[in-house]
Amino acid sequence: MKKLITLTTFMLVAVCNVAAQTVDVGVAAATDDRYCTTCHGVEGRGNIGVQAPRLAGMEGWYLKRQLENFRAGIRGTHAADVQGIAMQAMAVKLSDASIADIVSWVSSWEYIAAESTVDGNARRGRTAFGTCAACHGADAQGNEALGAPALAGQNDWYLITQLKNFRAGYRGAHREDSFGAQMLTMSRTLTDDQAIIDVVSYINTLQK
Ligand code: HEC
Ligand code: HEC
Repeated sequence: MKKLITLTTFMLVAVCNVAAQTVDVGVAAATDDRYCTTCHGVEGRGNIGVQAPRLAGMEGWYLKRQLENFRAGIRGTHAADVQGIAMQAMAVKLSDASIADIVSWVSSWEYIAAESTVDGNARRGRTAFGTCAACHGADAQGNEALGAPALAGQNDWYLITQLKNFRAGYRGAHREDSFGAQMLTMSRTLTDDQAIIDVVSYINTLQK
């Protein structure tokens, strides 16, 4: 009896899959688009080797917007943004259904704060972070209403690269990237690389 139920379920699933393929390519393709861990690491914990950041714990609204921005070429198309270009290529073929599937898949991963790899002057970074807190929150926990993601717990090497990318105009300069544009302006309050390392060292002391 159990065997029969299993078999019936299997056939039902198979039939549904075929139906999905013919009716809605997007939905059928969804699970095929779960190749993200190849670069982003097991359960999306980040992979410094390929400079792909942690995805586990990322807010669904932020993840969705970034995937849509990469897909539309609003992010990851500046010639000097080598890693952004690599990610942009991964997003171009995602359907809306795939993005929705990925957002729910990623939300099932456990949030584990990334390990610290930098050791700057957190005390000086704390002063600089006063400005950042207005949008990202006092504990860098993120603020959906302002569109500013959580920074606490993210790989520090990634935060550093992104701050440099914003400052150089590799990210946030596309005319349709209104959220990135705000951050590009803010990144210029960090006048040198040491200021970036210091503020990220302070963020390392915060928890979501
Ligand atoms: C070939 C390697 C590779 C694959 C596969 C890949 N990514 Fe990425 N991804 C990267 C790299 C490298 C970056 C850093 C680029 C950047 O943000 O400038 C990145 C950045 C991102 C970001 C930006 C994070 C942030 O905090 O702004 C998101 C979101 C993302 N990837 C999601 C995904 C998802 C979802 C998938 C699967 C559909 C995926 N990636 C597949 C390499 C990859
Ligand atoms: C005016 C509001 C605002 C302020 C102030 C601000 N940010 Fe942001 N920040 C944003 C928004 C909005 C984004 C998302 C940009 C996007 O969607 O691409 C962002 C993105 C980022 C990112 C990229 C995160 C990721 O996962 O890709 C980093 C890093 C960052 N901010 C750090 C800072 C730091 C450090 C400061 C202070 C010097 C700061 N921000 C001040 C609004 C702000």
